[in-house]
Amino acid sequence: MNVPLLALDDGALADRNDFRRDVLAGLGRYPRAIPAKYLYDSRGSALFDAICELPEYYPTRTETAILRDCADDIARLAGPGCALVEYGSGSSVKTRLLLDAMVDLHAYVPIDISRQHLDATAVRLRHDYDGLRVDPVSGDYMKLDALPPAINGARRIGFFPGSTIGNLTPEEAILFLRRARRLLRADGALVLGVDLRKDPQRLHAAYNDAAGVTAQFTLNLLRRMNRELDANFDLSAFVHDAFYNEAEGRIEIYFRSLRHQEVRVAGRRFVFAEGERVHTEYSYKYDEAGIGALAGKGGFSIERSWTDPARLFAVVFLK
Ligand code: TRP
Repeated sequence: MNVPLLALDDGALADRNDFRRDVLAGLGRYPRAIPAKYLYDSRGSALFDAICELPEYYPTRTETAILRDCADDIARLAGPGCALVEYGSGSSVKTRLLLDAMVDLHAYVPIDISRQHLDATAVRLRHDYDGLRVDPVSGDYMKLDALPPAINGARRIGFFPGSTIGNLTPEEAILFLRRARRLLRADGALVLGVDLRKDPQRLHAAYNDAAGVTAQFTLNLLRRMNRELDANFDLSAFVHDAFYNEAEGRIEIYFRSLRHQEVRVAGRRFVFAEGERVHTEYSYKYDEAGIGALAGKGGFSIERSWTDPARLFAVVFLK
């Protein structure tokens, strides 16, 4: 489907300009890389939801099970009358587990880039949680430095689930934590979900599912460039390429060219060598010591942590 430019409002037009600029910059340098945030257009978001249901993709269901067990502990550690500040979407089962346990919450503050997503979340949660004050903040949580004045006085408890911290490099993760500490203030806390290091085969399978949904998710970026940037990627000439780099403790995700080829993107031509990869994302895995070290560099310490019986995933309460 080709959406004519004239049908776009100012916001969408600005988004498309950012997308074009970032793609041209990312393909114009070596090694090539395109920022991961562009994976999440509406089809990409739907594919990501499907990934979370895959038998091989254990993080979502494991973290949910841990939260089911530790939500009451978290509510107790947080204390009465606090504000729950979620980094990211906020309409999920995981959020609801905390909202159910934190019965006397002062406010729920979801932070998200997408205004639309936030408004939908706020409407739904206000409806489902009678009397809950929902104060959405739209913006990039890597940059945000203030929260609504209405929550002043309440202890601020951050929530950053999904091992999204693993999609940041360790340097970025430290910067994120330092910012979070400032935003949540000295008496605040942060509940963090972190995927743990484990058998490489298991990690590999989680990002290379048999049904090929993760591959579709990666290749959706090519489709999106074709549609929005007038590109002509041949979807049969590129493949999803994800593997565990054990030395770095991270999954690396790319799309890879199957042959020497030339592709047009937004009026420019790019040559891809056979086997050349374009990076889209990292997913860092930590062990308990690594989480503690990272937290320390970010100005936090682990007050408590919970894991599943197989030690696949950890939820930590940082103060
Ligand atoms: N934070 C999750 C993870 O690293 C989600 C994620 C990001 C993801 N990119 C992905 C999952 C690509 C599968 C494929 O696991």
